[in-house]
Amino acid sequence: MAESSTTDAVEEVQIKAQGELRSADTLEALEQWRVAYLGRGGEMTRVLRGLGSLPPEDRRAVGAAANRAKTALEDGLAARRGELEGAATSAPIDEDRIDVTLPGRPAPRGGLHPTTLVVREICEIFASIGFDVVEGPEVEWGKYNFEMLNIPKDHPARDMHDTFWVDYADENGDRPILLRTHTSPMQARVMEATRPPVRVVVPGKVYRYEATDATHEWQLTQVEGLAVDRGITFADLKGTLYEFARRIFGEERQVRFRCDYFPFVEPGVEMSIDCFQCGGGGCRICSDTGWIEIMGAGMVHPRVLEGVDYDPSVYTGFAFGMGVERIALLKYGIDHIRLFYSNDLRFLRQF
Ligand code: PHE
Repeated sequence: MAESSTTDAVEEVQIKAQGELRSADTLEALEQWRVAYLGRGGEMTRVLRGLGSLPPEDRRAVGAAANRAKTALEDGLAARRGELEGAATSAPIDEDRIDVTLPGRPAPRGGLHPTTLVVREICEIFASIGFDVVEGPEVEWGKYNFEMLNIPKDHPARDMHDTFWVDYADENGDRPILLRTHTSPMQARVMEATRPPVRVVVPGKVYRYEATDATHEWQLTQVEGLAVDRGITFADLKGTLYEFARRIFGEERQVRFRCDYFPFVEPGVEMSIDCFQCGGGGCRICSDTGWIEIMGAGMVHPRVLEGVDYDPSVYTGFAFGMGVERIALLKYGIDHIRLFYSNDLRFLRQF
C-alpha cells in the first residue's frame, strides 16, 4: 500500500513536471522549472529525500522509480534547453539566411575580341585549303618592310607608309627600324627561310600613317597571304580568293578584280565583293557602287622573287593582304572602327 502510493506520488510529480516543462518557453522559465523540481528544495529532490522515512521493504522499489523519474526530468531539461538555445541562436541566422540553393553569381569569363574571332575565321579558311599560319615581328627592319618588297628609298609609295620609326640611326644616318606598315615584310622573310612550294597566311598588327575616320585607324590588323610554286597563275589567285570570299561572306557572293598598284606585285589588283546589303543596287555600305573592296592582291613581282633567290623564270606566285577590322566591320555590320579599340563591354559582350 505504502509502496504503491509513494510510487504514485513519484509518478504524479513526474507528470506534472513534464507538462510544465513543455510550456517553459524561455531559458529563464526553464531555470525556474529546474529549481522547482530538481533544485535542492525542489519537489523531486524532496521525494528522494523522503525515501529514508519509508519502511525498508518499500525503499528499494520507490527509490528505483524516483531515480528513473529524476533522470527522465534531467534528460527532459537538457533537451528543452537545447531547443530553446537553438532557437535563440538561430533567430539572427534566420533573419539573414543565405539560400544556398540559389544559382551562384556567374564569374565573368570574358570572351574573344571580334578582331580575334575574324582573324581565326580567316586563318581557318586558308588552313583548310592548304595554307600554313605564321607570325612575324611588329618591329621590323626597313629592309623587309620596303626594300625587299621593291619599294626603294625615295619611292613615292613610301608616302602612304609613313609610320613610327624606332629611335635608331645607322652610320649613314638612316633610320632602318620601324613598326611595320603592313604584314607584307613576312613575304620576304618566309621566302628567305624556305624553298618553294610556299603557302602561308600571316595575321598580325600593323601601324601606319592614316587619317582616322569611321573605318580607318593608325593601328590595325592584317592577314597577309602568299603562295609560290612552279606554274602558279593569276587563275589560282582568282580561284583562291573567290573561294575565300564565299566562305566568309556567303555562298552567293560575286567578286570583282580591278587593277591596282602595289610595288611588290605585278599585275596588282584590288578585290571587291558584291554588296551583300543591297545586292548591287547601291547603299551606304557600298557607297552606292554595289561593290565593297576587301583586299589588295597580285602576282608576286619578279624582283621580290629575285631578292630571296627564287628564280622568277621557274617560280611564280600570288600574294594578298586584307585589313581584318574592315572584314569584321562588314561581317558584323559595325559602323565605327573605334569600337574595336575602346574596350567597351557593351560592345564586346555581343560577340
Ligand atoms: N600590303 C598591302 C597593304 O598593306 C596589301 C597587299 C598585300 C597588296 C599583298 C598586294 C599583295 O596595303
